[in-house]
Amino acid sequence: MKVWLTGSSGQLGSATVKHLRQHGHHVHGVDVVAADTTDELLDIKDKAAVELSALGFDAIIHTAAIHGKHYELNYPREAFIDTNICGTLNLLNTCVKNGISKFLYTSTTSIYGNAMVDAGRAVWVDENLIEQPRDIYDITKQTAEQLCKDFFYKEGLQASVYRVGRFLPEDDNLRTNHRLYRGLDERDGAEALRLALDAPFTDFEIFNISSGSPFKQEDLEVLKYSPVQAILKYYPQAEAIYRAKGWSFPASIDRVYVSDKAGRCLGYQPQYTFEHLLQQ
Ligand SMILES: NC(=O)c1ccc[n+]([C@@H]2O[C@H](COP(=O)([O-])OP(=O)(O)OC[C@H]3O[C@@H](n4cnc5c(N)ncnc54)[C@H](O)[C@@H]3O)[C@@H](O)[C@H]2O)c1
Repeated sequence: MKVWLTGSSGQLGSATVKHLRQHGHHVHGVDVVAADTTDELLDIKDKAAVELSALGFDAIIHTAAIHGKHYELNYPREAFIDTNICGTLNLLNTCVKNGISKFLYTSTTSIYGNAMVDAGRAVWVDENLIEQPRDIYDITKQTAEQLCKDFFYKEGLQASVYRVGRFLPEDDNLRTNHRLYRGLDERDGAEALRLALDAPFTDFEIFNISSGSPFKQEDLEVLKYSPVQAILKYYPQAEAIYRAKGWSFPASIDRVYVSDKAGRCLGYQPQYTFEHLLQQ
């Protein structure tokens, strides 16, 4: 498939370019920053440049964004709106104008926001949880999702949304802890997007994409206040490994990201799980 991909110099975008090329797709990567996975320096805010560049492609995968780290750097709200909303709208309009039939939008589990806060138990975060955005980043990602939905129903564009979990740079202990309930390896994210390229959708779909979790809904109360008990129930070997490495278990687990829908509908099966990291 001929794929036009934004954010190709970024963490998820570069992993996706490499992964799709390994699977025989033709990928044209665009970004404002140069990298060996990027073919063209292009700003998605530049509508004319987007329309010209994205000619003759079958699909757009959109990973470029101003995101959490920019929020912490106090970027103004306008910067989020310009890139995350207006930039996404440019791409959606380009799909219609250039006859591109498929659009994959990478959103974020962060938009569940305050819905993930419960004093008594961890929150089961599947796609049925109603989002409660907390900041301008979440607001712009949620709005862009709604634009995708609008284009699906009004323009017949095969737009779909991938709410990816956390893959920020972290030390080994924190990364391993996060893989229990909220993390994602960008290579698993890339695989989810690859699977989605081939999936025909009869309705507008939103998927959580995380590196999975061993936990079940019956564990939610224990996770909040005694997560070690729940962790060792599934991975008794973890205790010795953590001790040998001088690692700490999480003191509390407040949420569990659930990607079961992606498993059922796309055949998504994360490889870089907590168990995988333990075995390493
Ligand atoms: N990193 C995470 O933990 C995380 C978590 C949830 C969701 N996400 C989402 O996943 C996607 C990828 O995140 P990432 O961590 O790989 O981000 P990243 O910052 O590593 O990559 C984003 C890329 O987008 C590019 N970009 C920004 N503005 C652009 C513009 N106007 N035109 C063209 N390119 C532009 C940047 O130069 C960068 O290379 C984003 O949509 C983000 O919202 C990330």
